[in-house]
Amino acid sequence: MKILGIETSCDETAAAVVEDGRKVLSNVVYSQVELHGPYGGVVPEIACRCHVEVLPGVIDEALRDADLAWDDVDALAVTYGPGLASSLVVGLSAAKGLALRLDKPLCAVNHLQAHVYSAFMTPDAPDMASVCPFAALVVSGGHTCLVRVNAPNDFQLLGQTIDDAAGEAFDKGATLLGLGYPGGPVMDRMAKEGRRDAIRFPRGRARKQRGQIDGMDSDLCFSFSGLKTSLMVHLKNHPPGVDDPGVSDVVASYQEAIVDALVKRCERVLEGLDVLAVGGGVSLNSRLREALRDMAARRGVSLLLAEPKYCGDNAAMIAGVAGMGLGVWGEEAMLLDAEPNVPVA
Ligand code: KG4
Ligand code: ZN
Repeated sequence: MKILGIETSCDETAAAVVEDGRKVLSNVVYSQVELHGPYGGVVPEIACRCHVEVLPGVIDEALRDADLAWDDVDALAVTYGPGLASSLVVGLSAAKGLALRLDKPLCAVNHLQAHVYSAFMTPDAPDMASVCPFAALVVSGGHTCLVRVNAPNDFQLLGQTIDDAAGEAFDKGATLLGLGYPGGPVMDRMAKEGRRDAIRFPRGRARKQRGQIDGMDSDLCFSFSGLKTSLMVHLKNHPPGVDDPGVSDVVASYQEAIVDALVKRCERVLEGLDVLAVGGGVSLNSRLREALRDMAARRGVSLLLAEPKYCGDNAAMIAGVAGMGLGVWGEEAMLLDAEPNVPVA
C-alpha cells in the first residue's frame, strides 16, 4: 500500500510517499525557517500563507521523486494535530480535497504519535508492535513529553513539560545570547567548544503538588522556564564580551541542563520497561544522543533514536503511521477538524 503523507502542523511544509509503513519512496521537506528567523520564532500567519503557496509543489515533488502517478497512490495521510491551527488547516484541507478527487481513503494522524513512530522508520529498527510496551520521548520546539506505548494504538501520556518545550528552551536561550533562531543547531555546535560543567544551571524539575501534575507523576514532568530566567540572571551578572571564549562554556552548561533533565526522566520512565524510542527536532542534538546512548548502555536497555532525516517535522512519519493501519481512517477522518491541542493519547 503506497500512502501519500502531508504534514503542515508548524513551519515545515512536507509531503512523502511511504509503502507499507516502512519503505520511504520519497520525503520532501520545505523548511520555512528563513522566513521566521528575523522574528525569532514561528509567526503563524506567515507559516500558513507559505503552506498555501508551496504545498502543491511539494506534493508534486514527492510524487515525482517516488516515480508515481496519482493513480498509483492507494491512500492519503495527514496530520490533524497538535500544531498551529491555521497551519494544520492547510494540509488537512488539501488532503481531504485530494481524497475526494481521487476517491481514495484518508487517514488522519496525531503528530506526536508520528514522532514516536519516526524511531521505527530505520530499516533495521524492530517492528513497533514487537517491542510493546515501551517508553518514548518526544522532544521538539512545541512539545516535550514522555509516553508509554502499551500497543501500537494504545498510547499513555506519562509526563510532559508544564511550561516551555525543550526546543523552546534552546531557542529562547539562543535569543538571550544573541545567537539567532533556531537556537538548537547553533548551541549544539558551540557547546562542543565549551565546558559543560562550567556553570550549574537548574535541571528543570516541575514542582510537586502531592507528587502529581494533572494526574501525571511530577517526577516525569519537565519545567524549562526557570532555566531561561537563570541564564538571564547569569548574563546580567557576567556580561559576555564579543567573541568571548566563555560564551561556549555558558552554552555547553545550558545545553547540559536541558540534556540532563531529559535523560534523568527517561531513566526514571525506564524502570520496568526496556526499550526507549526518541524523536522530534531536539533529538538531533548530538550531546542528547550521546547522553541517551550512555544511559541506555549503562541500564542495558535498547535505544531507538530516529534517524536525523526523520527527527524534525516530516511527512514520511505521517504516511508511516497510516501504513501501519494506525490513525483515524475513512469517513471519521473526513469529518475531523484540525485539533491544535490534541494530546498524544
Ligand atoms: O520537531 P521540530 O522540527 O519542529 C517542531 O515540531 O517544533 O523541532 C524544532 C526544534 C527547534 O526548537 C530547534 O531549535 C530544535 O528543534 N533543534 C535542536 C537541534 N536541531 C533542531 N535542538 C537542539 N539541538 C539540535 N541540534
Ligand atoms: Zn513536530
